[in-house]
Amino acid sequence: MIFTKLKLINFKSHENTIIKFDKGISVIVGENGAGKSTILEGISFALFKQHTGKKIDDLVRNNAQSMLVELGFTSNGRQYKIIREKKSNLTSSIYKKTSADGDYVHICSGDKEVANEIRQILDIDSDLFLNAIYIRQGEISELVDKTPAEKKKLIGKLLGIDSLEKAWNNLLPLITDYENELSELKGKLYNSDELKENLEKKKDELNSLKERGHELEKNIEEVNELRDEISESKRNMEREKEIYEAQSNNLISEEKTLSKLENDKRTVQDDLDKINNAEEEIERLEKYVSKLDTYLDFEKSVTSIQNLKEKEKEINEKIDSINRQKEIIADNKENYNKFLVSDEEISKLDEQKLSLEKELATMAKLEKDKKDFLKQIEDERNDIDNFFSRAKEKLHDNGLDQDIVAGIDNFTQIENATNDFLDETSTKIKDLGKDIISKNEDIVVFKQNIKACERPLEELGEIDNKCPVCQSDIDENKKKELVDQYSNDIETNKRLISENEEAVRLLTKNKESFEEKYDILLDLSKNIIEYKQKFNHLQSEIYKLNEIDEKLESKEYISNKLGEIILLIANKKSERESCQESYDLYNQAQGALEVLGSVTELQYQLNQINNEIDNHVSSIKWVIEQDPHLSGDISEEELQDRINDLKQKNEEFNQLKGFVKNKQSYLTQLDSIKEDIGMSINQIDIIKNKINASVYDEEKYEQIIYRSDMYERRYNTFNNELSEIKGRARETIVYVKDLTEKIEKADKFQQEYNDVSDYINLLNHIRSLYSKNGIQKDLRNISRPLIQKYTKEFFNEFNFNYSDLTLDEEYDVTVYGPEGKSSMSMVSGGEKIAIALALRLGITQAMSNGELDTILLDEPTIHLDNSRKHELINLLKEMSLLPQMIIVTHEAQLENAADNLIKVEKVNGISNVIV
Ligand SMILES: Nc1ncnc2c1ncn2[C@@H]1O[C@H](COP(=O)(O)OP(=O)(O)OP(=O)(O)O)[C@@H](O)[C@H]1O
Ligand SMILES: [Mg+2]
Repeated sequence: MIFTKLKLINFKSHENTIIKFDKGISVIVGENGAGKSTILEGISFALFKQHTGKKIDDLVRNNAQSMLVELGFTSNGRQYKIIREKKSNLTSSIYKKTSADGDYVHICSGDKEVANEIRQILDIDSDLFLNAIYIRQGEISELVDKTPAEKKKLIGKLLGIDSLEKAWNNLLPLITDYENELSELKGKLYNSDELKENLEKKKDELNSLKERGHELEKNIEEVNELRDEISESKRNMEREKEIYEAQSNNLISEEKTLSKLENDKRTVQDDLDKINNAEEEIERLEKYVSKLDTYLDFEKSVTSIQNLKEKEKEINEKIDSINRQKEIIADNKENYNKFLVSDEEISKLDEQKLSLEKELATMAKLEKDKKDFLKQIEDERNDIDNFFSRAKEKLHDNGLDQDIVAGIDNFTQIENATNDFLDETSTKIKDLGKDIISKNEDIVVFKQNIKACERPLEELGEIDNKCPVCQSDIDENKKKELVDQYSNDIETNKRLISENEEAVRLLTKNKESFEEKYDILLDLSKNIIEYKQKFNHLQSEIYKLNEIDEKLESKEYISNKLGEIILLIANKKSERESCQESYDLYNQAQGALEVLGSVTELQYQLNQINNEIDNHVSSIKWVIEQDPHLSGDISEEELQDRINDLKQKNEEFNQLKGFVKNKQSYLTQLDSIKEDIGMSINQIDIIKNKINASVYDEEKYEQIIYRSDMYERRYNTFNNELSEIKGRARETIVYVKDLTEKIEKADKFQQEYNDVSDYINLLNHIRSLYSKNGIQKDLRNISRPLIQKYTKEFFNEFNFNYSDLTLDEEYDVTVYGPEGKSSMSMVSGGEKIAIALALRLGITQAMSNGELDTILLDEPTIHLDNSRKHELINLLKEMSLLPQMIIVTHEAQLENAADNLIKVEKVNGISNVIV
């Protein structure tokens, strides 16, 4: 790595600094505090964010808001730049140039990403950078002062053997992982021999199952052929059987049909025989039947005559009754009319009585109301009278003249008197108020007068012989006169004040008593208005009472009238009662006449009945002529018996007639049945022929069925065994597969176990090689003589009085002088710096064949005396072991050694670089 450019913006004391670095020695000079070390810190901050501040904010120049550090460098022929910028946060980015003249391209951003990228590009970390490359001010002897462990670690890093240590460390978890895997595998290991034996057995079992399976398949095939054959014959035979059975069934049914037809034939023949017998019976009954109507007519006429005679009797009775009722009406007519007249008069009188009674009831209510009303009026009147006398008393009590009070007689008078009195009192109150105000005003004037006297009186006491008003000189007498005058005036005014105050008190008291009176009169005036209204109301009620009295005056007249009418009604009622019987008889007779109807009508009905009776007598005569067995004196019972006998015969005759009507239909039925019987016999012959022609043989059929069942059974037995064998074979195959997999797995685990175990041994071996005491030690020991050689060479350049320098295994330095050997704790401070620098340069020299290109030294000459400084400077000047050295120094001598001289100065707190 070679640094090419550094840009610092607001980085500590640098406001805007750009420095270009070249190969060779760059010397940075300047006064204390100029900002030299800051330049190296800028490089360190850009590369690894390493700085001496407590926090990054300390790096931002005072008063600046943001900060930027940009570092350009080359590595492996490529050019890079790192930019660290702080605004609110710190951002980091790294860029790479695509070619020498090309542009920078962004590689990555972010703290972690940039740190990783730098580590990859440079192959160093911040530790290595701080220990081998950047030797900070005052830290030059640190390398020799480190503890053995730190030193070993650092040397390891410098020699690049820390990666072996890392590998040694990293191998441990790897080995642990494999050891875990090994114990897991151990758990999985098992013996596969037993499994293999079992597998062979199962394979044999599977083969025998397969053989039996083949055998069964052959058997099934054979039995199947036989099954096919027999089922063919079975099918043929079943077809024949079906035909045979169908014909047999046909025969049975046809024979049934024939027997039913013959049955029907017999039944119809029987019915026909019955019809012939019935025809004979009809002929016998016919002559009786013709007589029935004659007998019925006879019976009807006899009954009708009887009924008509009954009616004739009833009508005659009615006519007699009508005559009797007419007589009654004529006898009672006069009394009946009298009754009606009295009755009408009574109802009129009743109406009058009712209206008078109503009027009397109204008056009774009025009388009751009048009592209540009177009481109310009395109460109101008392209340008003009381108020009136109280009001007059009140007026008198409050000072109204007795004569005026005595003269008050009505409400208008009392109202006017009260209002006048109120006005009078109000005027009085106003006058008294005015008096009080005027008295108070007087008091104010008297008080002012006192004040006007008090001041000159006071001045007269303090100042001698001067008039307090005009300031003219006065003698003692005049002064005394003035004092007396002022004192008298004060006294007079004080007296007047107290007199007036007494007057005000009396006036106020007086006024208050009038005000009290005014309030009482005001209340009274309000009450008078209220009672005046009550009085008016009372007047209107008295008027209403008078009206009631007027109404009640007619009461006596009405009750006398009512008495007269009641008497009249009683007389009329006794008159009516004496005619009551005749009235009732008349009404009954009249009602009976209305029910009985007219005599003319009844006479007409009698004529009609006689005509009808005549007609029936002549028809009876005609019937007797027709039948010699009938006569007018035949008893009713006998007549009934004969009619009943004839009716029975007639019914029989009609039934037989109905029965005989079906004769033709029976004849037709018989013919049709006979025809069907013929056809049925023919059909039976045909079926019998067909049955005789059938080839179906029951014995043969049963044999076929037996054989078919036997083959079926055999087929099923073989098939069942075959499926069982197939199932077992399937199970065995799965079992064999499982076993095979298990055996394979066991073999695989064993193989894996062996591999992992070998691998662990190998890793342990490698780890022991990588250990501190392994290759690390070897490498350290191999490099040690070379480092020791270079260190010694650099150390010799300082021309100390030491003859030799050695490095032990722990890289502890020992020097040998005339006094013998000295360890680091024994040498002087300057000697220690020289030794430490020589060791650093020695290590750097040993490693420089590629790894390190540059070194940053901050004040390396410090603590050295002049001649040593000179020697170091010469040493550095002549050194060409590194392509680039950047040295910060105060030594002007070193400026001569510089290939590039960088001067730093600080103006107004800001560092500037002069190249
Ligand atoms: N944040 C900051 N802003 C401004 N100035 C700062 C800031 N931090 C440090 N400085 C100043 O920067 C100056 C430079 O210090 P630096 O260590 O670079 O000086 P130097 O040139 O190495 O001096 P010496 O020869 O004494 O070692 C100091 O004076 C310090 O006060
Ligand atoms: Mg410094």
